[in-house]
Order: sequence, then structure tokens, then C-alpha cells
Amino acid sequence: MTGLPGSELSGRELAAQIRAATAARAAELTATGRPPRLAVVSATADEASASYVRSIANAAARVGIDCDVLHTSTANGVAAALAQLADDPEVHGVILQTPLPDGARLADLATVIPVEKDVDGASPLSLGRLAAGLPAFAPATAEAVLALLDHYEVELHGRHAVIVGRSVVVGKPAAHLLLDRHATVTICHSRTADLPAITRQADVLVVAAGRAALIGPDHVSPGTTVIDVGTNATPDGGLAGDVDPAVAAVAAALTPVPGGVGPVTTALLLRHVVEAAAVGG
Ligand SMILES: NC(=O)c1ccc[n+]([C@@H]2O[C@H](COP(=O)([O-])OP(=O)(O)OC[C@H]3O[C@@H](n4cnc5c(N)ncnc54)[C@H](OP(=O)(O)O)[C@@H]3O)[C@@H](O)[C@H]2O)c1
Repeated sequence: MTGLPGSELSGRELAAQIRAATAARAAELTATGRPPRLAVVSATADEASASYVRSIANAAARVGIDCDVLHTSTANGVAAALAQLADDPEVHGVILQTPLPDGARLADLATVIPVEKDVDGASPLSLGRLAAGLPAFAPATAEAVLALLDHYEVELHGRHAVIVGRSVVVGKPAAHLLLDRHATVTICHSRTADLPAITRQADVLVVAAGRAALIGPDHVSPGTTVIDVGTNATPDGGLAGDVDPAVAAVAAALTPVPGGVGPVTTALLLRHVVEAAAVGG
């Protein structure tokens, strides 16, 4: 890590490194007759979601991964598509896109995805295995947090990591990954009393709340490394994190939004697909 106050921890260079290694591995797999293939099941007409799916498919194509997008509109349709993909030996990674049809629960549907194809760690079985220290794909976003901390050589052993957010896609899996690295972990959420008093104790602060500018300069101590997972749409069509950029004047280092966790997340998701294809081969 640079150690300069207010350093920007960009994810773009790391993402490019991961993509290059993934493309090389995808080419090897393709040359041996096992082209890596990803499938995305989508049951929404939501434009933001559709745009995300297009960006995943384009990113996959750029590293040599085939990507199919299956559209349906009902929970039964989702379950049937997932069951078919589970049995398809030519599909190595499966993503279930949200939002889901009314009344459908991600936790129920995602259990149909075999753990070895669950490249975004959506299944409760994957999260359980992660918690138990067994092999499983972590949600790519949670893994991106750790990948950024490692890339910038941020010490975790014995340090206090505070996570704001307890979702199954980010907060909880990030906690398990940080525990595995011997950090002392505190998880905060919307009922946490006196959030700033806790976040100010952090050596590493991971924020995944989905609330623009939730974390301001008063929440952070000098020396803290801040990873901002939040992505909040701004009125001008842009993207803002959960951390007020003014935090950079206090913290040791801060990931930008966009350009921090996001690109690393996408790159890791695709790396998981080639890892799944390699194991399956
Ligand atoms: N960059 C990426 O690749 C990527 C990927 C996934 C998600 N994200 C972004 O990360 C953010 C979080 O996503 P998510 O899916 O984890 O969201 P989520 O399921 O809505 O969970 C948000 C968490 O934040 C907590 N929270 C909300 N308001 C809070 C407050 N005022 N003080 C303290 N905690 C509060 C909630 O507490 P309760 O549990 O008490 O409700 C909940 O645990 C979103 O902005 C999302 O867009 C980014």
C-alpha cells in the first residue's frame, strides 16, 4: 500500500490483470475442447438489470467465455431453466439475475444451482460451505473486497475490519473471508446503535449498505482503509458510492465509485467460470 493519506484504491489495474489471466486460461480450455460457458437466467424486464446482464455477456466475450442469456417470466420458468443448466455438462457457470418474479425467493431458487457451477455464490449451500471453511465460490463482490485489499497490500491479520451491511451477497460472505484472513470482524446494519462510534474503530472499513453518502468524514479515523461497495444511481445518471468522497481527506485510502470494487467484481466472476470449467474438465 502507498501509505499516502487519501490514496485512491482503483480497481481498474487489478481487474485488467485478472481479465488477462482469465483470457489465457479460457484460451487453453478452448484449445483442449472444453470452451468455458456461462449461462445467465433472467426473469425481469428491469432495464438496469438488463444492462448489467449485457455488460456481463460483453465482458465474457472479451475474455473468450461463451455466455447464454435465458429469459423467462415466472418462478417455475426460472426453476426449470436452472434445472436444465444444472444437468448440462457444457455449462460451467450459472448466474441467477435479480430481481425475481413476485413471491420468488433467491434462497429457494438458487439451491437448484449446483455448488460447483454457482460462480456468484448465490446459493445458501455455497454460503454455508464458505462459513464452514469448505471449497465454494464466494459472491464475486465479497471476493473483490479481499482482492483489492490484497492488491494494495493492506494488512488484515489481527486488524479490526468493520463491515456496514449484512446481506448474503456482500456483508456476510465478506465477513467470512476476512475472518479466514485473521481479521477481527464487526458487522453493522440498520439497527446498529451509534454507527460512527464503531466505524471509527476500523482499521479496514467495508461499506455495503446501498445508501449514498452514508459514511462521512465523522465515521472514519485517520489510518483507516475504506472499501466502498455501494452503487447508488445519481439524478444525473451517474453512480455514487455509500461513502462521501470527503472521507478521502481523513482516511488512509478509499476505493472510488465507479472504478473500485465494480470492475474487480466482474473480472472475478469470469475467473470463477474458467475455474469451474477447469475443475469440471
Ligand atoms: N460493486 C458491485 O459489484 C456490487 C455488487 C453487489 C452490490 N453492490 C452494491 O452494494 C450495496 C449493498 O448491496 P446489498 O445487496 O448488500 O444490499 P442490501 O441487501 O440492501 O443490504 C444492505 C445492508 O445495509 C444495511 N443498511 C442499510 N441502511 C443502513 C444504515 N443506515 N446504517 C447501517 N446499515 C444499513 C442493511 O441493514 P439491515 O440488514 O438491518 O436491513 C443491510 O444489511 C448496494 O449499493 C449495491 O448496489 C455493488
